[in-house]
Amino acid sequence: MSFFDKLVLPQSLEHISLIQFLATLMLMIFIPYIIMLIYGTLLSLVCKYFGKRSETIFFETISKDIIPVVTVNKSTALILGLAPLLMLTLSYAQLFHNYTMLPVKFFILAAVLLLIGIVLVFTYRYSGLVSDILADKKSDDNSEASVFQRRVGNLYNSTGLWSILFLVVGLYMFTAGLSAALHPGDELTSGGFFSVVFSFSVLTRFVLLSLLGLTVSSSIILFRFFHWEGGVQLEDDYAAEIKQFFSRILFISSIVLPVFITLNTITMPVRGVSPVLFLFLFLAMVLVLISLLLQYKMLSSKKFSNFPAIFVLVLFTAFLTVFAEQEAMSNANYRQSLVLAQDFNAYKATLEKTVFPSNTMSGADIFKNKCSACHRFDTKLVGPPYKETLPKYNGDIDKLAEFIKNPVKKNPAYPAMPNQGLKPVEVRAIARYILQEVKKFQ
Ligand code: HEC
Repeated sequence: MSFFDKLVLPQSLEHISLIQFLATLMLMIFIPYIIMLIYGTLLSLVCKYFGKRSETIFFETISKDIIPVVTVNKSTALILGLAPLLMLTLSYAQLFHNYTMLPVKFFILAAVLLLIGIVLVFTYRYSGLVSDILADKKSDDNSEASVFQRRVGNLYNSTGLWSILFLVVGLYMFTAGLSAALHPGDELTSGGFFSVVFSFSVLTRFVLLSLLGLTVSSSIILFRFFHWEGGVQLEDDYAAEIKQFFSRILFISSIVLPVFITLNTITMPVRGVSPVLFLFLFLAMVLVLISLLLQYKMLSSKKFSNFPAIFVLVLFTAFLTVFAEQEAMSNANYRQSLVLAQDFNAYKATLEKTVFPSNTMSGADIFKNKCSACHRFDTKLVGPPYKETLPKYNGDIDKLAEFIKNPVKKNPAYPAMPNQGLKPVEVRAIARYILQEVKKFQ
């Protein structure tokens, strides 16, 4: 992927930490949103399937009712779903520059699949809506309206399945990218694309994200229906069914979650592990435990009042998982970061050489030819000695260059300094030279 190698600039260690910080922020937005979208859609499809099989109205209705909650709207899908993923891809292209582009390739593949999946989800959502509206209008079998009605029905059925296929595979590829970033250069990635895709590491990480997805989507559904802005007005039976169904899903997925948090940690490479990582994981476990206790209390007392607290706990569990992942990633790639910083220094050196090419005069030459008539470092001639005037620039080469390029009146005890008519490159060279030399006189 020389395209990316051309796109990125070498970076210092500080830049690298900044990029890692940005990547963490992007993941904090992307992961909770995308897993909510995917697993909310999956829950909707499962309900739809149950509804068809058992012919219970409850499941068919709930299938359509939860889709707007978990998909929010199209611009959210762009802002919270695709944009952070693209930013993340660019950040990783920087971090893995000249090293391995495998994580970046996975992210790009994931972005394409997820984009298709998201378009299909919204088709699913709107065709569901339209088919509902059309279902109210009875029409005879051969009329144009009924043909249209059937078509919308088919669209509703097929887009649901296709969307979940693209979304799940997209999420899997994204997970593969995360794993590849954690294992650069070891046996997991050395076999290329397929050895990553079929590795245990990707599998456990994917199950972990899926469980998080189930907890996030079921808790947001409960939160939205029964709490947010006073909740939604529902018939009592229907409300009770929703509470029961989704709080069970939430409970079961929360119980299994710690197992996969542990398994996921075990698959991490040793050089990714650090005390901070364990702290994040420990906190995540504590949050899961508290949320389980709240859920247990709620299920046993049948008083469903803790949805907001549970939702916040679930969201922070997802955040902590992201922190842990990024901590492991930055530890595992510390050596690569040092190499990049080395590249940066080399790049800086060549840059300086091109900015001060040897055919223009060096700082020392300019001093001899253009300045020494009026200046010495330690004694006063026509102009003041450098050792008295330069300290106030504090090593600020830009400020000094500005003066030399365009001298302004400074000290009333001296005449004004005439403009020496130097080229910009020469101005920087002489400024650098005198700042360097004056140190010998201090
Ligand atoms: C014709 C004499 C003359 C030449 C040639 C000359 N200077 Fe000066 N320079 C002066 C005088 C006079 C001042 C004091 C100006 C003032 O205080 O306003 C001065 C002041 C300075 C100062 C102090 C500015 C400050 O902030 O107080 C610096 C730095 C300086 N010159 C750098 C240079 C450099 C570099 C060159 C060669 C490229 C150069 N000068 C060539 C006469 C000269």
